[in-house]
Amino acid sequence: MPTYKLTVNKKKYEVNADADTPILWVLRDHLNLVGTKYGCGIAQCGACTIHLDGKATRSCVLPVSSIGNKAITTIEGLSEDGTHPLQEAWATHDVPQCGYCQAGQIMTAAALLASNPKPTEEEIVTAMQGNICRCATYNHIKDAILTASRK
Ligand code: FES
Ligand code: FES
Repeated sequence: MPTYKLTVNKKKYEVNADADTPILWVLRDHLNLVGTKYGCGIAQCGACTIHLDGKATRSCVLPVSSIGNKAITTIEGLSEDGTHPLQEAWATHDVPQCGYCQAGQIMTAAALLASNPKPTEEEIVTAMQGNICRCATYNHIKDAILTASRK
């Protein structure tokens, strides 16, 4: 089994895994970073969203062998103490219901704000439309992103 050197949340790791193992399972099963969730496994729901060099990426379909030197950020690494403006806005707007989709929602939103710090409502809806929420928290998500964008 090959060894891969990974940078996750600014820390270096070495993992042994089959080349086609999705990075989602490396994060969860090898590194015990279980904030990133498995939803559909076919890049359709967004629950598994991480950042790869800052870009929102579906980890469920991304083989560990394709990561190379790119830096991975998971929900655990978004801030050191849960004070990223989105995390604070999520609390202010009481966004989560069951919570299952929310790490992926926040990671997609964080990538949006990093590239477009003052998005319009329409831009938010467009950026977030690939992240599914079975509890239909969409309006709260949009309001929280707008709040975070004003900070
Ligand atoms: S679990 Fe990856 S997009 Fe659904
Ligand atoms: S909060 Fe339940 S699936 Fe989104």
